[in-house]
Amino acid sequence: MAQTGKGLRPATQLVHGATMRSQFGEMSEALFLTQGFAYESMETAEERFKGTKPGFIYARYSNPTVAMFEERMCLLEGAEAARATASGMAAVTAAVMGQVRAGDHVVAAKALFGSCLYIIEDLLPRFGVATTLVDGGDLDQWRAAMRPNTKVCFFESPTNPALEVYDIAGIAKIAHAGGATVVVDNVFATPMFQRPLELGADVVVYSATKHVDGHGRCLGGILLCSQAMMDLHFQNYLRQTGPALSPFNAWVMLKSLESLPVRVAHQTKSAGII
Ligand SMILES: Cc1ncc(COP(=O)(O)O)c(C=O)c1O
Repeated sequence: MAQTGKGLRPATQLVHGATMRSQFGEMSEALFLTQGFAYESMETAEERFKGTKPGFIYARYSNPTVAMFEERMCLLEGAEAARATASGMAAVTAAVMGQVRAGDHVVAAKALFGSCLYIIEDLLPRFGVATTLVDGGDLDQWRAAMRPNTKVCFFESPTNPALEVYDIAGIAKIAHAGGATVVVDNVFATPMFQRPLELGADVVVYSATKHVDGHGRCLGGILLCSQAMMDLHFQNYLRQTGPALSPFNAWVMLKSLESLPVRVAHQTKSAGII
């Protein structure tokens, strides 16, 4: 299987990036509806399970169609690593829960999508993680909310539904000075208009259900970050807890990415007129 991508323009990456062609040379990405994978030998199986040899093991860990979606999103976002999830909320939950343990503290903007607010206000305190909500646009409030045990600063920008826009670089500076990481829910902007990793964020999450699918068909999400953060916080969490994206939904998302630049540009133009 051959892989393409780096160096292409974003609009081209969204059509051709990270395509893995099978021996049949298919034009459109193949839909691999398989949970498991065959091994040439017991030794190969052992090496794959140990991680010393690349290859697919089980679809809760990865799948070729899902991997193409993840790789294409990495190209678009400028990220080293990505894991696709069954919904945007699965990505948000993993991005926060994967990094904290009892005794830690999380700061978040109070203008959050309802389910994101549930994670911060209800779920985290149940597991001994304290949380503080701030006005996301006020850097002094972020600064004042930081504690020695603050591990994560989390916000959406623009927010859903009020469309408040925050200073990602400013918040990242405050978070990093206090030893915390920054998780940005970038669903509204899409990577076409905002790339939070370039502004200092450590983790970017999407509800792919929104602009990535863009046709109201499939639920999905994705979490993107550095390879080091993926290895440290998320890889094992996602493998063991199992919010994997279905290969069918990944295939739909891959096809939708082809038209993402055209769709979001037109939506933005229409919204401006309205
Ligand atoms: C900002 C934001 N984050 C997360 C989500 C959750 O995504 P999903 O519905 O795909 O779980 C949504 C929308 O539902 C959203 O608008």
